[in-house]
Amino acid sequence: MAENLGHYNHKVVRQFAVMTIVWGIVGMAVGVLIAAQLAWPALNFDVPWLTYGRLRPLHTNAVIFAFGGSALFATSYFVVQRTCHARLCNDAVAAFTFWGWQLVILAAAITLPLGLTQGKEYAELEWPIDLLITAVWLAYTYVFFGTIAQRRIRHIYVANWFYGAFIITVALLHVVNSAAVPVGMFKSYSLYAGVQDAMVQWWYGHNAVGFFLTAGFLGMMYYFVPKQAERPIYSYRLSVVHFWALIFVYIWAGPHHLHYTALPDWAQSLGMVMSLILLAPSWGGMINGIMTLSGAWEKLRTDPVLRFLIVSLSFYGMSTFEGPMMSIKTVNALSHYTDWTIGHVHSGALGWVALVSIGTMYYLLPRLYGREIHSKPLIEAHFWIATLGIVLYITSMWVAGIMQGLMWRAVNPDGTLIYSFVESVQAMHPFYVIRLAGGVLFFTGMLIMAYNLWKTCVGAQPAAGPIPAPAGAL
Ligand code: HEM
Ligand code: HEM
Repeated sequence: MAENLGHYNHKVVRQFAVMTIVWGIVGMAVGVLIAAQLAWPALNFDVPWLTYGRLRPLHTNAVIFAFGGSALFATSYFVVQRTCHARLCNDAVAAFTFWGWQLVILAAAITLPLGLTQGKEYAELEWPIDLLITAVWLAYTYVFFGTIAQRRIRHIYVANWFYGAFIITVALLHVVNSAAVPVGMFKSYSLYAGVQDAMVQWWYGHNAVGFFLTAGFLGMMYYFVPKQAERPIYSYRLSVVHFWALIFVYIWAGPHHLHYTALPDWAQSLGMVMSLILLAPSWGGMINGIMTLSGAWEKLRTDPVLRFLIVSLSFYGMSTFEGPMMSIKTVNALSHYTDWTIGHVHSGALGWVALVSIGTMYYLLPRLYGREIHSKPLIEAHFWIATLGIVLYITSMWVAGIMQGLMWRAVNPDGTLIYSFVESVQAMHPFYVIRLAGGVLFFTGMLIMAYNLWKTCVGAQPAAGPIPAPAGAL
């Protein structure tokens, strides 16, 4: 069966897909710069808007909301149309989500280096930008669920459940955590105070991980892994159990970010227990994705795009094993404030979020432009460079983090500290250089991808005839 590409709104999907690559490069370039600054602090050149404290939130906002967000918009719009056999319910509102989201990113790119911030991690942007985010998100909710309402297939495919949960939960998180009293155009105070503020912030922060960086990308996984593997999902029943278990448990785990703080002890322990339980649904999802390949493992030898997708699931499994371990209070007593957390973050962020997005973009962009991929060997090269980059990044941070934790707690028999703080900073230097090398490799892979997809989309090699729809879940 040939696909009728004209029936769907692919313009907005293309726009978001292209911006995924652009923002990925920008966000990771800033990541490379701040990684270099940690090794050689003079690299801020004494320019206020190049200082680490201002560029770090620029990096996190650019990679999570600009790169990750664009990938989620692009794929959710693509998947919802395909699996519902319906065009997006409103082209104008969909276009508003694209231009509105780009405006949010632009506003972030200007205000963060200027030092304008609410000081809440992953929710730094000041109140006028928060209002714009709310408007874009409401429009997104309308387009996504409006399309589902107009579907011509009775069943709602599981990928849409994950995308839907991501959209609804992020709306709730954003509105509750950003509630603030403005005292000027670019200054506001949180509506909450003290430990309540911290609790709301980490309820938000953890679920930003759970729903923005996980549930949405699981929606991506449930559509694109079966498509690229040309096999139905391993167990549809498991995917439904996975969905309900994951969204029910995630929402309670936030307090593991506040161990040994003023937060009541019972709340910390509840967060720890919920985090341990979270291992089960996370691994259920990982196994469901990886086992989709059962009977077709040989494809991994020849298909580098599939390799990106499957290795992303392995990293997902690894970081969702590590997370519950780090949430155990005695483990967290060592890991908290150290680079171990940074290693964990990037095994999830680079290994899972970035790799699954990259694999998906290699699937999506050639199809959206009706072209054959320009160079398969370049995808192959990208895969190995990126994987090596991640390994260097996370192993150096694990060693650095555990060393830091142990140095800080080492005491002489008389109770005095063996190491001063500066000695622990000095000991980090070689690991910061290795992390930078890993980051540079990963970033180089992004440039290779941009070149390959650029040549694909503007190249003079149209695909031979309409691209056949691969057999898959739907
Ligand atoms: C070339 C790739 C990348 C490099 C070199 C890089 C580098 C860095 C550096 C140096 C930090 C600060 C670490 C610290 O404060 O000690 C950081 C933080 C962070 N990065 Fe990246 N990064 C990269 C890609 C990504 C991607 C793709 C994502 C998300 C999808 C991401 C998410 C984060 C987050 C969430 C933090 C804050 C972690 C925390 O506060 O615990 N990074 N990154
Ligand atoms: C079962 C799943 C997971 C659990 C239970 C978990 C648990 C944890 C724990 C205990 C911390 C350290 C908190 C601290 O000491 O401050 C942490 C930090 C973090 N994790 Fe995870 N994690 C999980 C999966 C993931 C995944 C898949 C990602 C990324 C895609 C991720 C991203 C992060 C980020 C960004 C932070 C740093 C937050 C900050 O301090 O800025 N986590 N996680």
